[in-house]
Amino acid sequence: MSRSYYIAGNWKMHKTRAEAAELAGALVTALKDGKHKYLIAPSFTLIETVAPIVKGTNVLLGAQNCAPEEQGAHTGEVSVLQLKDLGVHTIILGHSERRHNYKEDDALINKKVKLALHHGFEVILCIGELLEEREAGKAEAVCETQTIKGLEGVSAEDLSRVVIAYEPVWAIGTGKTATPEDADAIHAYVRQVVGKLYGEMAAQKMIIQYGGSVKPDNAAQLMAKENIDGALVGGAALKTDTFIPIAKFA
Ligand code: PGA
Repeated sequence: MSRSYYIAGNWKMHKTRAEAAELAGALVTALKDGKHKYLIAPSFTLIETVAPIVKGTNVLLGAQNCAPEEQGAHTGEVSVLQLKDLGVHTIILGHSERRHNYKEDDALINKKVKLALHHGFEVILCIGELLEEREAGKAEAVCETQTIKGLEGVSAEDLSRVVIAYEPVWAIGTGKTATPEDADAIHAYVRQVVGKLYGEMAAQKMIIQYGGSVKPDNAAQLMAKENIDGALVGGAALKTDTFIPIAKFA
């Protein structure tokens, strides 16, 4: 089955409104004739600025997180209702920075995944092992657990709005990329896990992005792999010079 490529930029905690508007505008122009599916995920405070720039274009609008509750007394959190109000299409959940720096566990991430899907969002569910887990031969097991627990209670119908991003933690922001072979092996394994949960057809349709130091010079080799269906890009998503060649990888 041929899956289409999906290239997403996670801007993390970068940029002011003026900088965000400039980058979003440049990307929209440059990617107008792009062949793949595209997304940019700015900080919450930038979403209202970026929304009208990407509206009606082939660049989707993402958020980097959401609260596990719809609304209420949750100081400092942002609700799915507020994100929907801004025109957000996709929510990135379970990013390793959320898992490890802000102690989000699989149960919390699963709650967010279900809430976001319930409200009609697309979800990018991030999974990935730590360096010590890889060195201990546990990369597959960690990714399997994060996939199973992250998707617990998600219906087969809602699964069509889920994308998985495999991001080995040791490769994020470090300049170290998994080899295309190592990444592909985990992607294939995760696809099997999805197959066991939802059947072969759903597994074949599942878009699995790779993330972790994706750069213009390694994007094409990664994308060439059978099971790598796109990229979730951090550092290189912050500049047109680096994001555009990744988005238009040949
Ligand atoms: P990086 O980040 O491309 O800077 O390694 C990827 C991510 O965290 O999504």
